[in-house]
Amino acid sequence: MPQTPSELLLSWYDDHARDLPWRVPPHRSKAGQRPDPYHIWLSEVMLQQTTVAAVRPYFAAFTASWPKVGDLAAARDADVMAAWAGLGYYARARNLLKCARVVDADHDGRFPGTEEGLAALPGIGPYTAAAVAAIAFDQRAVVVDGNVERVMARYHDLRDPLPGVKPEMKARAAGMTPATRPGDYAQAVMDLGATVCTPRNPACGICPLMERCKGRRAGSAPDLPVKAQKVAKPVRYGIAYLAVSPEGEVLLETRPDKGLLGGMLGLPGPAWAEGAPVPAPPLPGDWRDAAEVRHTFTHFHLRLYVQIATGCSGKPPEGCHWVPRSALSPKSLPTVFRKALNAGLAAL
Ligand code: ADE
Repeated sequence: MPQTPSELLLSWYDDHARDLPWRVPPHRSKAGQRPDPYHIWLSEVMLQQTTVAAVRPYFAAFTASWPKVGDLAAARDADVMAAWAGLGYYARARNLLKCARVVDADHDGRFPGTEEGLAALPGIGPYTAAAVAAIAFDQRAVVVDGNVERVMARYHDLRDPLPGVKPEMKARAAGMTPATRPGDYAQAVMDLGATVCTPRNPACGICPLMERCKGRRAGSAPDLPVKAQKVAKPVRYGIAYLAVSPEGEVLLETRPDKGLLGGMLGLPGPAWAEGAPVPAPPLPGDWRDAAEVRHTFTHFHLRLYVQIATGCSGKPPEGCHWVPRSALSPKSLPTVFRKALNAGLAAL
């Protein structure tokens, strides 16, 4: 009997599933074992816009520090933000904490088992609700991320550009999602997109859907999905001040909760803007140029001029505090400030 695409994908997954620390492998999933919903939720939030390789050490650190959702709910905000530092998209960490606290306080520490119940939690969008419902609870939820969109575009040869084609991609994904093993199926499509149906140079020759893939037959697969022309990112400029006290302490700022890198530690300085930055040293001092750091965010490129001054003293401005060099952990800073701090320290 001819197999459906979902059957082909599931049998490919049985042999080729990636070994991921939060995942229950297919042979055990088929025997009815389900993963820990806390692990699935945490991994799915971490994996948004982030590779599996980058997520692995963070997932290990979070689950070691906070083994249950209740432990995370009870954590200090600053500790969670510091543990997230380097992973990017910091609103995810703030929402993660909000969600953990609601699950702990209002749901007895248990994640709801349906897509609707999950979507009602703070910080859980449609993608995460569907992914957790499918993977953790084996619900027939339609999970669509960038990998799934690419597989749908190619398999069905959808040539209209993103983002307009998204509803059709979702409809196609819904049409292929099976009632049996929907959780494994969701992971199978994502694994296929990550390892075979890759953005560049897809490995069509080893794809379980090769025979039926319209994009492969038409020769369009490597060029799909079509993306609308991207607008060039603007350049913003800023100054990061590295103030060092006579005792060798460094002045750090806890950024306001709202806005870019909200709630994270950083070096003080004026708000980043497209014009020339207006100097605003946090303390008086003999400030000198130390380095220029470049960093790219989703919506802009940043040129950050690092200035340093030694022998600084005085009451730290609002939001700032002195940290002894011995207690300074660059790992607890977001990447842009890690780079600025290291460049500044190297120039002392
Ligand atoms: N990317 C995001 N979530 C994933 C998952 N659950 N399996 C494979 N790749 C993923």
